[in-house]
Amino acid sequence: MRIINVFGMSIALTISASALAADNPIVIKFSHVVAANTPKGQGAQKFKEVAEKLLPGKVQVQVFPNSQLFGDGKEMEALLLGDVQLIAPSLSKFDRYTKKVQLFDLPFLFDDMAAVDRFQQSDKGKELLDSMKNRGLKGLAYWHNGMKELSTNKAKLQRPEDVKGLKFRIQASDVLEAQFRALGANPQKLSFSEVYQALQTGVVDGQENTWSNIYSQKFHEVQKTIAETNHGVIDYMVVTNAQWWDGLPEDIRAGLEKAMAEATTYANQEAAKLNEDDKQRIIDAKKAQVVSLSKEDVQAWRTAMAPVWKKFEGDIGADLIKAAQEANK
Ligand code: LMR
Repeated sequence: MRIINVFGMSIALTISASALAADNPIVIKFSHVVAANTPKGQGAQKFKEVAEKLLPGKVQVQVFPNSQLFGDGKEMEALLLGDVQLIAPSLSKFDRYTKKVQLFDLPFLFDDMAAVDRFQQSDKGKELLDSMKNRGLKGLAYWHNGMKELSTNKAKLQRPEDVKGLKFRIQASDVLEAQFRALGANPQKLSFSEVYQALQTGVVDGQENTWSNIYSQKFHEVQKTIAETNHGVIDYMVVTNAQWWDGLPEDIRAGLEKAMAEATTYANQEAAKLNEDDKQRIIDAKKAQVVSLSKEDVQAWRTAMAPVWKKFEGDIGADLIKAAQEANK
């Protein structure tokens, strides 16, 4: 009888514990600034699907795209305050937290996305994921977007002299500021959500971004020319609040790590295709003209932007720059 009672009681306890978990899943808010149909948007959605499948009733992932919850200026602060649990800012937006990640903004550092990927998967690349732990940020993964192209509201965009004196929107990065100053242009730091209007109203003349960001934000509708410069990269670090992450029950953390690995593979596979498709959509839309560059043109941009490297070598570290360059081979 006693055994039955104990048995009965333990069943009752088990049921109420799991009922509790189902009623009270851990809510994980994933906030980002781009559209849902972009590499980052797709990655965030995949993470939600896999995490909720692996941890049924234990976690609920809420994805907020398009700066709906927090925009560029606020999302890191919100993460540190615990108002969101996951964000994936572009690698250009971390310079308040570490100077090392500025590496990714050096113009013409990587030959292509395969080189970016090789570097991110190397020991030095992985170390950077932990470079902001002392500031409370833990990097969980790198996600790709793609190479950056340059656009303006002018008909001619072939050589560096064509952008002299023009105003460009940049992400909040001192390296990118120096890059446009080296071209004799005037950079202006603006949040991603402000770019379309700034281009439309002429507050700025141009910007730099990936095909998928240009297409999904309709920048091509308010620009005259897009030059295929591939002069830099827009990639992301998915970051979480280190204290929150370390405090998660072990089974939850393990499940989320697995979901992040799956979402990373998926997002990185989709990125190249999305950018290629969006490039074609931009060409087909016939609003902005897409200009390809000759080897000589590219060399001219490379030479014009080269002084930026020396300026930031001290902050970033010559060894790190060398390791990144080696990924090109
Ligand atoms: C930008 O601000 O242009 C990009 O970083 C937006 C993004 O997250 O891709």
